[in-house]
Amino acid sequence: MTTIGIIGAGNIGSQVARAVIGAGYDVVIANSRGPETLAELVAELGPKARAATAAEAGEAGDVVVVTVPLKAYSEIPVEPLAGKIVLDTNNYYWERDGHIEALDRGEATVSGLLQEHLPTSKVVKAFNHIVAAQITTDGSPAGTPDRRALATSSDHPEAVEFVTRLYDELGFDAVDVSPLSESWRVERDRPAYVTRQNRAELEANLARANRLP
Ligand SMILES: NC(=O)c1ccc[n+]([C@@H]2O[C@H](COP(=O)([O-])OP(=O)(O)OC[C@H]3O[C@@H](n4cnc5c(N)ncnc54)[C@H](OP(=O)(O)O)[C@@H]3O)[C@@H](O)[C@H]2O)c1
Repeated sequence: MTTIGIIGAGNIGSQVARAVIGAGYDVVIANSRGPETLAELVAELGPKARAATAAEAGEAGDVVVVTVPLKAYSEIPVEPLAGKIVLDTNNYYWERDGHIEALDRGEATVSGLLQEHLPTSKVVKAFNHIVAAQITTDGSPAGTPDRRALATSSDHPEAVEFVTRLYDELGFDAVDVSPLSESWRVERDRPAYVTRQNRAELEANLARANRLP
């Protein structure tokens, strides 16, 4: 059984944990303040979850989710994530994260920054354009008419394959907007951001996005 390490235990980290545990995965989850501060969440998540430090969650995960405010991305431990698929949920909110000039100028992507920080990992964009609470409420079985679709993007095809399978297990179609240099199409303030879309609508919204919002 795959263990998913989750670095970040806020809105998205806790919801991804609930969703993947529901799909049968084990979870090791971390925040910035230490495992003891996650006792309540881990009690709610049950026996398939435990709390750890960020490095331990990275080490324990066969696959790792990074879901922290973007300003903290350079604090993510590099070595424990080496060689692993790393799901990046992060978005750029300059009001929260401070200005990152390469993003402001449209010369970089949010997930590209994490890939640069984790050069030996296989970074893949996931869950960045869905409101956290909807991860456990908006899924539906494959083939459901108007099924919600979510975008993914990576420079590593096996990482896209993993996210495509995971989305399906959680009730979502996947639309691949690889490579990472194209992933700005699903970043904040683009047409595909956060709104509910089926596959055709998401594909159309990705196609009509502008490089700078
Ligand atoms: N909220 C949404 O609906 C949503 C949807 C899609 C994408 N996103 C994006 O996903 C990311 C996470 O969003 P969120 O709403 O879940 O944020 P959040 O509720 O503020 O939670 C952030 C989590 O990251 C942890 N953290 C911060 N710095 C860390 C570090 N250096 N090492 C380990 N953990 C650290 C925090 O731990 P402490 O509390 O201990 O500091 C907290 O558990 C953001 O980039 C956000 O823009 C959010």
